[in-house]
Order: sequence, then structure tokens, then C-alpha cells
Amino acid sequence: MKSFSQLMGEQTLLPIIQANSVEEGVNIAKAMADAGIALVEVVLRTPASLAVISAIKAQLPQLKVGAGTILSAKDHHAALDAGADFIITPATSDTLLKALADSPVPVLPGVSNTADILLAREHGYSELKLFPASLSGGIPFLSAMSSVFGDIIFCPTGGISASNNKDYLALNNVFAVGGTWVAKADWVENQQWQNITDACAQACK
Ligand code: 3PG
Repeated sequence: MKSFSQLMGEQTLLPIIQANSVEEGVNIAKAMADAGIALVEVVLRTPASLAVISAIKAQLPQLKVGAGTILSAKDHHAALDAGADFIITPATSDTLLKALADSPVPVLPGVSNTADILLAREHGYSELKLFPASLSGGIPFLSAMSSVFGDIIFCPTGGISASNNKDYLALNNVFAVGGTWVAKADWVENQQWQNITDACAQACK
């Protein structure tokens, strides 16, 4: 099983791109790359998402680009066809984890409770996304998990912000934090790309 955290390397911010068009997605990715970001996640929540992944890979070849919101084997294959370098799921089921077992790229399954964590662990995963982190117990939940599941490390996403990301990162079982706070929808709408660069740079400090 390929390690997602190894692919992330030194980067502890997982910036999320949700784009309505290819142009928008590439501009967001460019603004993130300008802050020194080397790896981004594109969530498959708009009709443009798969084309956004391919376009970023073509236009910013230095970036590693993953696909988020993977819910099925079909999504997985579509993301790989688009060139995804990694796969992230918002939730976990036996069916989905079986479908992803032979993925040629790192997979980060999403969990929100102890049963999910155990299921993912039984499938061989030791790196998980906690989603939606703030609604699934946040920092107190993650702290509690460090004694029960001492061999699992997390990337929380969902409700992470400029004001709390460092508190999550301070936990010894958190290897990265992810979210859309570094590419707010109104910045994208108003083409305020510098705000995205600044927010990424701030989060990476
Ligand atoms: C995700 O897919 O991980 C979430 O959409 C991120 O949630 P956020 O918008 O609260 O950062």
C-alpha cells in the first residue's frame, strides 16, 4: 500500500480546489503553487473537476494533483484516467475500500468515528482523513484516538480554518490538515488569486 503522507513529504497543508471551470481550477492551483505548495486536491464536486485535474497536470507539471470526493470504483477509474496522483474519500465502506485496494496511487480514506477507523485499519490503512473534522469531535476526538489507535495518523479536513489549523497540527497523531479556507469561494469568484497565495503561505509557516 502506497503511503499518502510520504507523497506529501514536508508539506503539512492539503489545499482543496473546488472549481467551476478548467480556467478557474488552473488559476487556483497556480496561486497555491506560488506559495510553494507541491501537492493539491481537486474535489469531484463539479462537472469540470476531472478536466481540472488533467489541465493542472498539463499546465503545472511540477504539482502533484489528487482527486477527492471519491465514492465508488467508477469515480476511482475516472480520477486515474484524468491523471490523479492520489485518491481521497470523504467516507469509508467495505465496498469502497475493496474497490480501492489495488489502486496504483496512494489512497487516503475518510473516517468520522471509531468504527470507520477500525474498518480502514482492517483494510491495512494507517493514514486516514478525519471528515468532517469539526463535526466529528475535532481536537478532543483526535486526542482520544491517539491512545486507542496508536498506530493511526490523521489528516483532518472539514471546518479547519486559519485560526485552528495550527492547533490540529500540534497533535502528535496529525500529519497534515486540509481544507478550502485557503481558497475561499468569494476570492475565486472575484479572482483574488493573491489572497489564495497569502493564505497558503500563512498556513505553511
Ligand atoms: C473536504 O472535502 O475535505 C471538505 O470540503 C473540506 O471542508 P472545508 O470546506 O470546511 O474546508
